[in-house]
Amino acid sequence: MDFFYPYLLNSSNQPIGIFDSGIGGLTVAYAIKELLPNESLIYFGDTAHLPYGDKSAESIKNYSKAIAQFLEEKGCKMVVIACNTASSYAYAAVKAAVPRHIPVINVIDPIVDYLEKNHANEKVGVIGTKGTINSRVFPRKLKKKNKDIEVATLATSLLAPMIEEGYFNNNISRTIIFDYLSKKNLKGIKAIALACTHYPLIRKTVDEYYKGKVDIVDSAQVVALKVKETLVKSNLLSDNKKPKYQFYVSDFTEAFDQSTRIFFHEKISLKQVKIWQD
Ligand code: DGL
Repeated sequence: MDFFYPYLLNSSNQPIGIFDSGIGGLTVAYAIKELLPNESLIYFGDTAHLPYGDKSAESIKNYSKAIAQFLEEKGCKMVVIACNTASSYAYAAVKAAVPRHIPVINVIDPIVDYLEKNHANEKVGVIGTKGTINSRVFPRKLKKKNKDIEVATLATSLLAPMIEEGYFNNNISRTIIFDYLSKKNLKGIKAIALACTHYPLIRKTVDEYYKGKVDIVDSAQVVALKVKETLVKSNLLSDNKKPKYQFYVSDFTEAFDQSTRIFFHEKISLKQVKIWQD
């Protein structure tokens, strides 16, 4: 029962919990750290179950609920679902899994709000994993806000594994990205949402394709702003001068550990934690 719950004393110096299917969500964690340098962060990457982009809705919900409970047990004051696929399928499940006083932020609503505010009555594009695109969450939420906004979506399944392998800002990645962006249904868009944790890393190439004429919306920045706004509103902004950062994964490999630098721009150490029994 909420009333007797120890974290009812949700205090500002408790950490923010952030999770993703893997290490791509570190782009969101990094943006939060940059915007809110006094916040402690606990990050969880579900590397044992990666990628979520091809999983069933039910599995994504189950994984996400268990991770949210783990973050709550660690004393997090807020949970950020830093994964577009998990945000598409498991937002309600995560909210139901943690006590009501812990705010839950997903990476989709802040983008939807931004697009609706800045591109009402225009054509906008959304690219993401198969899971995110097949969920139709963006067109559904955008149309609900404004029926005149036209939404073109495209599953760009090759991009997340490509970026994870270090293929970005080179000729191979440019060819693949340009090929996706040249698809007919994206013609005439005025904005494009990079609806996947990994895509902030290809922002430059996307901008190169559109020659600066299309507004590129990257979830990391928009979500960090939403986190700040929510903390201010809930009176939970930290003034901790020595914030702590902890990074957990469900399956540790050297390759993941090495790749963290790509997403977090500095070397960090991943620690394996078992949420699920084998
Ligand atoms: N984190 C996922 C997302 O943002 C991409 C990787 C995956 O498919 O798990 O949609």
